[in-house]
Amino acid sequence: MAHPQNSENAQSSKSSNKVDDGRQKNSVLVGDSQPKLFFSFLTLFPEIFQPVLGSSLLGKAKTKGLVDYRLIQIRDFATDKHRTVDDTPFGGGEGMILKVDVLHAAWQEAQRQPPREGKSLTVLLSPQGRLFDQEMAHELSSYAHLTLVSGHYEGVDERFIDLCVDREVSIGNYVLTGGELPALVMADTITRLIPGVVGNERSLTEESLEKGLLKYPQYTRPREFLGRSVPDVLLGGDHEAIAAWRQGEMERRTAEKRSDLWDLYSAALKRQKEVQFGK
Ligand code: ADE
Repeated sequence: MAHPQNSENAQSSKSSNKVDDGRQKNSVLVGDSQPKLFFSFLTLFPEIFQPVLGSSLLGKAKTKGLVDYRLIQIRDFATDKHRTVDDTPFGGGEGMILKVDVLHAAWQEAQRQPPREGKSLTVLLSPQGRLFDQEMAHELSSYAHLTLVSGHYEGVDERFIDLCVDREVSIGNYVLTGGELPALVMADTITRLIPGVVGNERSLTEESLEKGLLKYPQYTRPREFLGRSVPDVLLGGDHEAIAAWRQGEMERRTAEKRSDLWDLYSAALKRQKEVQFGK
């Protein structure tokens, strides 16, 4: 949603609700190339993001110009002298609620000067959201702009969700203190799927979960350690035998360690056979 020049966005019912009030606050726009994917992080704690986004593969992906991001401090969009971002809930109840007017203004900043033409999506990190998984990561890696909103306190005003949020996403069935770590988990998982980020593209297709199975066991030198040897098949150089062993290990491990994934895999395999053999 949200990019006016993009037809998919233009179809979004939400984008038509937005009023640009012309304000420009001090978000941080990092880099000015045209990356494949641009993240806008809305947060009250931008300092959590910098070290993670600047390290390891994520840092390299930015240096190579494959992804880019900006951090938008929600508090910059508070309108009172105390820079208030939250308030007590109407009707009573525990905790504080993030204010719709402040969040909306911060969100508008994220949609200003869209970094690149293409699909755009606003995600609210929330334990109430759809569970994030590898499949969703693949889907989101095709977007040009992802706005990830990290909530805090007891929740956000529902009207912000109605007006601006395309999807609520949870990273697991547990409650964190805020959406910052979940936003980073999503950004990390999605970024490594962008072509060129992970050096060896084949390693992506061979890793855990890409085929619905866990990865096979791996070994490197020394051949023997504390009485434990590397399986003979891996030392023989017979590539067919190695591939067959790895496939068997993937299935065995998945059935043993993740019966939930194994049930899904077996059901998909059964359906595939039924289609193939016309049953
Ligand atoms: N915020 C708090 N807990 C969360 C979770 N499990 N997933 C996403 N956002 C959250």
